[in-house]
Amino acid sequence: MVTVTMMNTKNSPKRHAIVAIASIIGAGAMYFMGYRTGVILGAISYVLLFLTVVIGPILVVFPRLRRRLTGEFPFNWRSELGIWFVIWAVVHVAYIVDNPGNIDVLWRSSWGFTATVATVLAVLVLFTSNTKAFSYMGAKAWKWHQSHATYIIFYLLSAHIWQFSTVIGNRPDDPVHYLYLIMFFLVMLLHLVGFIKVIRFYNQNGKYPSYIR
Ligand code: HEM
Repeated sequence: MVTVTMMNTKNSPKRHAIVAIASIIGAGAMYFMGYRTGVILGAISYVLLFLTVVIGPILVVFPRLRRRLTGEFPFNWRSELGIWFVIWAVVHVAYIVDNPGNIDVLWRSSWGFTATVATVLAVLVLFTSNTKAFSYMGAKAWKWHQSHATYIIFYLLSAHIWQFSTVIGNRPDDPVHYLYLIMFFLVMLLHLVGFIKVIRFYNQNGKYPSYIR
């Protein structure tokens, strides 16, 4: 399994503050640009998910980057990015549902249903991103479920992202719609290239690279 877990158990208040403030600034900027609240909440959430997910594949595709980076960076940011992704996602979903009479928005469409499943998984991952869950599950099971759940969440959201970037009307009609598509296909591409690189390394050396666990 590639070392691409979504979250570690150690959270830093400083990193939390930076991610929270940066995402509030991003949301504020979108507000002044005239975006609707539902769009802002979803967009900030998706960018945070992208950042959480993209770190692992980038370092698999460019392993030399690891040597240039100091300490745990950027792996140690995934926990805070992942937690704030879930917070913005839950607020986004609450805003979209708005009132109990509208709850069926969660399963009325295929893209809505898959996004709902992604949100439920994200909340489950959030509640197991702590030292207690880590000790209870053990390192392997914990990393395994965090990593799998994160990528499943990301790919489950592809229908939602596709819906809003291309399916509706004449879209993409806005920079953010292009941005969603770029983020989605970039992660897919990095996954594919990373996988090919690892398999080539295995065939040349008879073992997996050291960054694969
Ligand atoms: C992890 C969970 C989610 C993420 C990351 C997310 C992401 C997004 C993004 C990026 C947008 C902006 C689309 C645009 O620019 O036009 C958006 C809008 C929207 N999302 Fe989500 N979404 C999530 C869950 C859900 C769920 C479960 C629903 C319910 C079915 C939902 C319903 C909507 C709706 C109705 C809009 C349009 C808002 C508007 O145009 O005002 N989302 N979402």
